Amino acid sequence: QAVPDIRIYEVGPRDGLQNESKFVPTDIKVELIHKLSEAGIKDIECASFVSPKWVKQMSDGTEVMKTIKRVPGVNYPVLIPNLKGYEAAKQCNIEEIAIFPAGSEGFSQKNLNCSIEEGLKRFKLVADQAIKDGMRVRGYVSCVVGCPYDGPINPKGIAKITEELFTMGCYEVSLGDTIGVGTAGSVKKLMNEVIKVATPDKIALHFHDTYGQGLSNLLAGLEFGIKTVDSSVSGLGGCPYARGASGNLATEDLVYFLYGLGVNTNIDLVKLIEAGRYISNFLAKPTESKVNRAIGDR
Ligand code: HMG
Ligand code: MG
Repeated sequence: QAVPDIRIYEVGPRDGLQNESKFVPTDIKVELIHKLSEAGIKDIECASFVSPKWVKQMSDGTEVMKTIKRVPGVNYPVLIPNLKGYEAAKQCNIEEIAIFPAGSEGFSQKNLNCSIEEGLKRFKLVADQAIKDGMRVRGYVSCVVGCPYDGPINPKGIAKITEELFTMGCYEVSLGDTIGVGTAGSVKKLMNEVIKVATPDKIALHFHDTYGQGLSNLLAGLEFGIKTVDSSVSGLGGCPYARGASGNLATEDLVYFLYGLGVNTNIDLVKLIEAGRYISNFLAKPTESKVNRAIGDR
């Protein structure tokens, strides 16, 4: 049986680093982005233009985007919370932005300082402007199965927000298990609702691997026909406003897993492992990727 191509959307430089307490200097972020593109990754979320009062780690988005050497054919999206962030990003030759309403009221208040409804209104202003300016817009929904403040989340509400993001003009919506509490069972329930409002090829899955369920959750999603997976090199990641959130599904583990399914990602695993080692060494912590540990230590 033919296995379809899977697109890997790398979030390491953004989701991966935003939760680090020690500020990662711009040149290290830039070098990480270069190493990821050299490994063959075609979508690299590089920065966010959020309030530096909220996430200081991401306060150098402009410098990062103005310094990276862009490889033709590689997509370098950035995360945008509001029009102020959009205006700053627009000065940096951006082709794709990501907007990120929350899937739960509790997380919306903690992460965006507003209700879900208010957040959607703000993001619509951003999406309208970006589309007018000829950019692609990606949508995220966070806390799609569980919220650190509100507990389990009803998939019907997530499907509704997903539908609104498509109505705003998003080309794809990424469903985020922000705190990594999902299981293959809860992912199936979620997908069953979401496919009522979108075809699976327009849905991406974004797993944090807190409970070690990332790959089995992904397998559940692949059975629905999803084509894009978010992951973070070395398994870095987390959100400062989501208590208990740990790193994303590691890109090295994802590439190895997909290889086992016969999916050719065109990613050089050795170079990817080097990229993971580069950033983990800088952060002075062991890699969170089991594949990186197993192969990289050899
Ligand atoms: P607020 O405090 O309500 O906003 O925050 P405000 O408009 O009152 O502004 C407060 C101050 O920040 C002002 O400065 C603004 O100018 C400034 P002051 O006047 O006090 O000097 N400000 C900005 N500065 C630069 N760029 C901006 C910007 N906006 C305001 N864009 C706000 C509201 C949305 C700004 C804030 O809550 C925020 O930045 N939140 C983002 C938090 C964040 O980045 N979280 C992590 C990303 S989400 C995530 O990781 C989940 C995901 O991975 C999916 C998953 O895992 O499920 C995507
Ligand atoms: Mg995330």
